[in-house]
Amino acid sequence: MVGVNKKKINVGMVGYKFMGKAHSHAYKDVGMFFDTAADVVMKAICGRDENGVKEAADKFGWESYETDWRKMIAREDIDFVDINAPSDAHKEITLAAIAAGKHVFCEKPLALNLADGREMLAAAEKAGVKHAICFNYRFLPAVQLAKQIIDEGRLGEIHHYRATYLQDWLVDPNTPLAWRLKKEVAGSGAHGDINAHSIDLARFLIGEFDRVVGHNRTFVKERPLLTGSAGGLSGGGASTEKGEVTVDDATGFLADFKNGAMGMFVASRFAAGRKNHNTFEIHGSKGTIRWDLEKLNELEVYFREDEPNLAGFRRILATEPSHKYAGNWWPTGHIIGYEHAFVHIVYEFIQHMTTDSPFTPTFLDGVKCQEVLEAVDLSIERGAWVSVDEV
Ligand SMILES: NC(=O)c1ccc[n+]([C@@H]2O[C@H](COP(=O)([O-])OP(=O)(O)OC[C@H]3O[C@@H](n4cnc5c(N)ncnc54)[C@H](O)[C@@H]3O)[C@@H](O)[C@H]2O)c1
Repeated sequence: MVGVNKKKINVGMVGYKFMGKAHSHAYKDVGMFFDTAADVVMKAICGRDENGVKEAADKFGWESYETDWRKMIAREDIDFVDINAPSDAHKEITLAAIAAGKHVFCEKPLALNLADGREMLAAAEKAGVKHAICFNYRFLPAVQLAKQIIDEGRLGEIHHYRATYLQDWLVDPNTPLAWRLKKEVAGSGAHGDINAHSIDLARFLIGEFDRVVGHNRTFVKERPLLTGSAGGLSGGGASTEKGEVTVDDATGFLADFKNGAMGMFVASRFAAGRKNHNTFEIHGSKGTIRWDLEKLNELEVYFREDEPNLAGFRRILATEPSHKYAGNWWPTGHIIGYEHAFVHIVYEFIQHMTTDSPFTPTFLDGVKCQEVLEAVDLSIERGAWVSVDEV
């Protein structure tokens, strides 16, 4: 709610396509549905193409625009910087924002590699600014419920964690060579883009990884060059010229967790028919839970303690006021969608910046995720298990 005497917190945002739109939506909605400690003001949006960024500023409701992020960061009326440019830009913009004393909200993966991620974390901690990484899926009510069930011990000892993150936008060999297919811009392919989410959810839900062993493939090694500047998921035309794909199309890995659980992970952009199939299934000594992003309001739960003749998977619709965040939206049963998780993470970060309330995921979670990503890559190089503590 916008209050007359309420504190204001001004955001400057870099990037205005897929995530730029999702984040803008979150800033617009958050004050309407959540009682924030400060009103977030959409001060400035930044992009390199003046026409494009001006159009986005008008459409998304930003007060002003800039074409140089350095200029935007230098502005005194910016309190925190939101970075949703592609991954190769995260480090430079973050370090400049921190040097200017601004808080940072950065998209995942944190950086192109672990060393850069560690540098960003150290800089943020040294400067004492607040920092967040946008692992949005943690903030869905059904995922929060899964966390609550596990933390309350209702699944008992965790034995298995299985995650898939499957898409199919690259099965067509004529899909152009977007930035997500270039190592120097994206860091890695399906691994850093979507396994990163699965790794974060696993850490959030059941704890730290111990060791990993993986394999990967690049099924299509050359693709038509992209005409235009879109990110692949945001469209773009194909040239007759081709360029080399320098990242993985799919990466799978096995894991051992520090709590003794066994893990299996697969991320692919070649899973025909799977559009954004982000799932986890967790088996414990007392039961099982299962979640699928494509049915994001639901959590399937099985408890072994149920009477045998009544036991079975129950489907919980996580839209009760008692389900975290759900009560801020609509009456029970009136479901929420993909974009709402961004509203929730933005809400928590505003509270954190304004009242110093506890907040995760921070850059530390970004670094922990990057450690697992790199340990998997090292295991592929060596053809052997790698301890996450080694990287
Ligand atoms: N949290 C999630 O679920 C999620 C989903 C998609 C993407 N992402 C992450 O968000 C980031 C952006 O992905 P996207 O899908 O929005 O990409 P996109 O290609 O749709 O948009 C990227 C934006 O950054 C701008 N940009 C590119 N290089 C820039 C530079 N050097 N300086 C300033 N602006 C620049 C582009 O003009 C564009 O507006 C990536 O790091 C990606 O991994 C996260």
